[in-house]
Amino acid sequence: MSAHSSTKRRTVPELAALKGQRKIVSLTAYIAPIARQLDPYVDFILVGDSTAMVGYGLPDTLSITVEQMTAHAAAVVRTTQHACVVVDMPFGSYQASPQEAFKQAAYMLAHSGAAAVKIEGGAALAETTRFLVERGIPVLAHVGLMPQYVNTMGGFKAQGLHDAAAQQITRDALAHQEAGAFGVVLEGIAEPLARQLTATLTIPTIGIGASPACDGQVLVTEDILGLGEGKIPKFAQPFADVGAVIRDAVQQYAQAVQDGRFPTLQHCFGVKTAPSSSNDESNSKP
Ligand code: KIV
Repeated sequence: MSAHSSTKRRTVPELAALKGQRKIVSLTAYIAPIARQLDPYVDFILVGDSTAMVGYGLPDTLSITVEQMTAHAAAVVRTTQHACVVVDMPFGSYQASPQEAFKQAAYMLAHSGAAAVKIEGGAALAETTRFLVERGIPVLAHVGLMPQYVNTMGGFKAQGLHDAAAQQITRDALAHQEAGAFGVVLEGIAEPLARQLTATLTIPTIGIGASPACDGQVLVTEDILGLGEGKIPKFAQPFADVGAVIRDAVQQYAQAVQDGRFPTLQHCFGVKTAPSSSNDESNSKP
């Protein structure tokens, strides 16, 4: 067996075992600088296909590809040590058949190092969950408001507000649990339904626009940092205004360049600045 790194990354069974112990904390990350900041504080990082909208400025999540998601997940895995990394399977990569889903999921995990995939879908996708789990691919199910179904839902709308819809979401979540999903994301559903599901299911529920009663919470990181586009969703809360910090830094940089205060000779190569030691090569290294 080859050498292991000295730090231990949280595993999928460890995540699942947190139900009933303490709340599970998750945020999205798509790129290294954000993933690095989250890593010490979250149980799992979700490399969400929300990057299509948040990172690429697209109107929905439908056109992101397996290759793009794999590259984002690989960047997140490379630059983190503690958090479990779960990657979203993109639209069209898993719905056709369990076999196709396995092929794509195996590629994504093998080429990114992520530990699990997330798939959106109701009970009809439970067979796919079972197929993946039985072949070594942990699955986080995602029910309720499923952004990949924006066209069948007729928009990004809260789900399960009426009895029949709530019963269907309950059947969906139970079917994925029975098929071996290690957890289920409940997005944009009625609060009493999320509360009820959390009490009923033996696997953790991860809420987003669901209920404080859920076993854990996930949000899009840009929404809590004040880096989202326009209005923040009702279910999110800004915990900082990083946008303002960035704007201030960029304004200062622009002013310094225009005033000729940046760069100085200290930032240049082949120039002797302050005499330190005779063998100081620091200003020749990029
Ligand atoms: O893609 C994503 O970021 C998600 C979360 C919002 C749950 O699916």
